[in-house]
Order: sequence, then C-alpha cells, then structure tokens
Amino acid sequence: MTSNDATTAGAEATFAGMWRDLAPVGRDGRSGGYQRFAWTREDHTLREWFASEAERRGLDLTVDRVGNQWAWWGDPDAALAAGRPGIATGSHLDSVPDGGAFDGPLGVVSAFASVDALRERGFEPDRPIAVVNFVDEEGARFGVACAGSRVLTGAMTADRARSLTDADGVSMAEALRAAGRDPEELGPDADNVRRVGTFVELHVEQGRHLSLPEVDQPVAVGSDIWPHGRWRLHTLGEANHAGTTRLADRDDAMLGFAAAVIAARRAAESHGCVATIGKVVVTPGGVNAIASEVTGWLDARGSDESAVRRVVADVTEVVEEFGGLVVEDSWTGTTPFDPGLARRIATRLGGIPVLGTGAGHDAGILANAGVPTAMLFVRNPTGISHSPEEFATSEDCLAGVAALTTVLLDLAGGAS
Ligand code: GLV
Ligand code: MN
Ligand code: MN
Repeated sequence: MTSNDATTAGAEATFAGMWRDLAPVGRDGRSGGYQRFAWTREDHTLREWFASEAERRGLDLTVDRVGNQWAWWGDPDAALAAGRPGIATGSHLDSVPDGGAFDGPLGVVSAFASVDALRERGFEPDRPIAVVNFVDEEGARFGVACAGSRVLTGAMTADRARSLTDADGVSMAEALRAAGRDPEELGPDADNVRRVGTFVELHVEQGRHLSLPEVDQPVAVGSDIWPHGRWRLHTLGEANHAGTTRLADRDDAMLGFAAAVIAARRAAESHGCVATIGKVVVTPGGVNAIASEVTGWLDARGSDESAVRRVVADVTEVVEEFGGLVVEDSWTGTTPFDPGLARRIATRLGGIPVLGTGAGHDAGILANAGVPTAMLFVRNPTGISHSPEEFATSEDCLAGVAALTTVLLDLAGGAS
C-alpha cells in the first residue's frame, strides 16, 4: 500500500484493520462470497461492528426510524439550526446472495478511514460529518432494493415495507421484531434527512470503464443512475405427475415462465436495454411434479426510461398470453446527481472521469429526495460485481479514501 497526499499512514492502517475485521462476517467458506441479508444474525454482527467503530472514534451513534445507522462527528442539529447542515458519507453493509466483499462495505470503511485521515491532519470541519450504514440496500431478503433509504425519505411507505416477505414467508415486520426493533417505529424520518446537506457515497465500480487503457484512472465521480426497476412475474398451472400426465392434459406454469425469460432477452436486445431474470421460485418444486406456480423476478434497466418500459410491456404481453400476471416491485427513474457538485469534485480531484452507472444506490434515493448527492467510484479491474470475484486493489481502495478525504476537506471547509 502506498501513502497518498490526502490520506495518512494512520488511515491506511485503520482501513486495513476494518477490512480484516469484516472479512469473515457472512462469508461462505466454499464460494468465498457473502450472505449478508437485512435483519439476520450476520446483519446484527455488521451493525455491532459499525456501532463499535463509531464508539472507538467518539462519534455519536444515532439510529433513525428505519434502522439506518449514523455516526456523527459534530452536532448535526446545532449545525442545522446555524444553517450549516451536515455532510454524510457511507454506503451499506448488506450483500446480494453470494455477493462480493466490496459492494457497500468499501464505502463504509472508506468513510471511517477518511474521518481518521481528517483527524490525523488536525482538521476541524465547519459542519458535522456523518458516516452512514444504510440498511437493506440490496433488497436480497425482502425484494425491494434500497429499502432503508426509500422508507427514510418516504419513497416507500412503512405499511408496504412491513408487509414485504422473505423466501420463508417472514414479513419485514416480523424480522424487525425478531431483531429487537418495533416495526411500528418504521417510517419516513424527515428530521434525519434534513441533517444531511450533502451526501457522498463511495462505491466499487461495477463495470470496467476505469481500467480501459485510454482511461486508466483509480477513481471517478458519478453523473447519474440509469432508470431501473424490478417486476414479479407470476404464471399459474396445475400440479400433476411428471410421468403419468399426458402432454395434452398438462397445465404447466413453467412454459409461460420460460417464454417470458426468452421474451425478456429479446426485448432487451431490441430496445437497447438490459434485462435479467436471476431468481425464480417454482411450486411445488419437485423434479417429478408439473409446476403449479412459478414466480420469477425481472430486473430491467437502460439509459432511456421509455425503452425500459417497452421491455417490461413486451414481457408482460407474453406472461399475460399464458394467463399470468406481472407486478411492479420497484421503479426508479433517471437519477442525475447534483451536476454542480460533480463538477466541483471532478475539478478538485484533478479532472477525474465522470461516469454514469446502471447500478442502483442509496445515493440515488437521496438524490431523488432532493439531497445534493455525489458518488465516487473506485476502479474494479475485472468489472465483475454481485459475485465473489468482485475486486479492487488495495492501492485503488486507498486512492478512493484519499479522494473522499479531499472531498470532505473541500465540503467541510474548516481549518487544518
Ligand atoms: C444494486 O446493487 C443494484 O443495482 O441492484
Ligand atoms: Mn449491489
Ligand atoms: Mn452497493
């Protein structure tokens, strides 16, 4: 690891220590991937880790109505009253099924390391700085991505969130109760949102633009997030014996679903989008039983909102032809980040690349709620993400910490 202008040897050491501490939590010994889902035992361990990192630094830990954790350096309410709302930075600690180590944790660990670097330099911010851990960003357990920031900002109602269920039929309300939280407390939390004058999320790149030989840079600033959403596809049939039921007598829910999978690929190709069906539940789920019900999840994204809508319309037509049903689970339109802030950051960091992304982030939800928001991306040499293969070098991670530290120095003014 190399030292860097804005970061410090101390911050490099704390980064390495935090990374080591998180490495075993929820790690699958066989694949090397992570199973870190909202309100599970692993999530509890990660939340305890966050709380202890806050305590170790003397930061004030607050937990909002949704369960997102905020570790404040400085008093956000006093600053707000004085017209100097705080700056929040961080990301999430949960993962997709068999996810990588970097998506989420890199932003949280870098945020703590940047606070360490600022303090080591003797920096006194002129506005409070928070490190944040957004709960349930991936939506791996209850189906809706960015659930923590959506409920926080009112983009999803508490009633809807409480009623979402996981694969075992456990509702979010029940999961919250099991985790020791009162589900009735869940709801939008304007007081916590108001404290955040600016949000900056650092994230591993999900793609390989920064590795292109003509780019070759460790860090970029985000411009916008593609429109994207999730839809549930249901097809129905009749369970029956795989050996004794004549083809002509079958009502096989799998056929409509299979047609929908092919339709999704074709529609994505013809409308210039991407579409993925990566999760499916078959009932009754026996090798020797005809499917009575199939539920699959369509994820569709693209640079153009109407093109994404056309993909979904094409798939819906096929599902409905088979008597099935399509239900929208979530939708986020084109999300630009604050252009002035992105320009300021790009300039401050020496003209780094400006990148759009097809990945969703809590930063997008905050931006849509009117919070001036920016993202930093750290080079991912293979571009692979949502997989155990996801990777960034230590040097690039530390370049990310240095960039974030510079951004916080700039935004929090102060004296050093
Ligand atoms: C979140 O990582 C998403 O883009 O699905
Ligand atoms: Mn992700
Ligand atoms: Mn993420």
